[in-house]
Amino acid sequence: MINLKNLSADRVAQFPDHFGKYQEPWEGFPHILKTQQFSREMIERLIFEDTMKTLFHWKNRSLISYLRDGRVGVVTYFFEPSTRTRMSFERAVQSLGASVIHTESGAVFSSSAKGETLADTVRVVSGVGAGIGYGDLLIIRHPQDYAVEEAAKFSRTPVINAGDGKHQHPTQAFLDLATIYLRYGKIDGLSIALVGDIQFSRTIRSLCYLLSKFDDVKIYLVSPEEISIKEDIKEHLTEKNVWFREEADLNSVLPHIDVAYFTRLQAERFRDQEELCQQLKKKIPLYSLTEKNLDLVPQQAIVTHPLPIGDNEIVEKIKTDPRIWAFIQSDIGVATRMALINRIFKELGKLNMHQNFKELVFSGLGWK
Ligand code: MLT
Repeated sequence: MINLKNLSADRVAQFPDHFGKYQEPWEGFPHILKTQQFSREMIERLIFEDTMKTLFHWKNRSLISYLRDGRVGVVTYFFEPSTRTRMSFERAVQSLGASVIHTESGAVFSSSAKGETLADTVRVVSGVGAGIGYGDLLIIRHPQDYAVEEAAKFSRTPVINAGDGKHQHPTQAFLDLATIYLRYGKIDGLSIALVGDIQFSRTIRSLCYLLSKFDDVKIYLVSPEEISIKEDIKEHLTEKNVWFREEADLNSVLPHIDVAYFTRLQAERFRDQEELCQQLKKKIPLYSLTEKNLDLVPQQAIVTHPLPIGDNEIVEKIKTDPRIWAFIQSDIGVATRMALINRIFKELGKLNMHQNFKELVFSGLGWK
């Protein structure tokens, strides 16, 4: 137990460390920063149970929210453009009965433009829990790899990585997996093609770590050589004995898959290499789904995409084909994010962690 009498202001300044003092439902709890944090058991609970139940209860208006005490506030702090991720997070939070405050273009509209460090902003906007302060949960998107992980070190409340540079986008990977699970009722044994810019796509990186927890999954990595998957992911898949094959020819792979996951060219990640970018743009049609190669996709398979579609990776004419699940996937994103956030607050409630934080901070500040 925390002894409130012995707390000094110095101790309080260190209190993010207290997250580690409790039995963690997942590594690095309560933050969601990268998909390596999660065991297979926890992934199954979050996807197979929490997200599926959330979809059901959300539809039937019978969802139990662990945020619905009228005081919980969430901060979304985005330094990069976003449509779905920010809106779906905000919709998820509102559906759970909490309130949201946001900065949409952090680099321009927050004090970052005046030189404030991310650490200082986080020190301010992470409240002390139980509805005291700005936010009881921070959802951050940032263009720099690992920036959100770094930010979490200064946070007094849980932090969710909503995409950090070309590193990870863990909640997108959870919703991708939920989409696949909804279609097949399993992940084990499926064949999945990851297509396009699989080098700079953070969603692909996050998804590979999740997929590697399942049995007999086959992963086809389909891309032009210049933007093939990075070595660290290949090493991880090899270490986990995951079957994978790198392929340049999309059409030879399509007949063998249960899921084809397309991605756009992440042009913003190599702005300094204009020539390369233009060359790659010309190759995109070879890594796209069109009226011509759609027939190669098995009838029972699904086609997913984290969106946005940037260069017609899935052409307009086929977007209503029943195999195209990219837009369903986006809907499932709201429920997945509700489930993840609800789980964080459920676990925090069990630990009475917010109450501890409140006492800790108030005693440190000399407040009553
Ligand atoms: C992302 O933020 O990474 C998106 O969901 C996918 C993309 O931008 O291509």
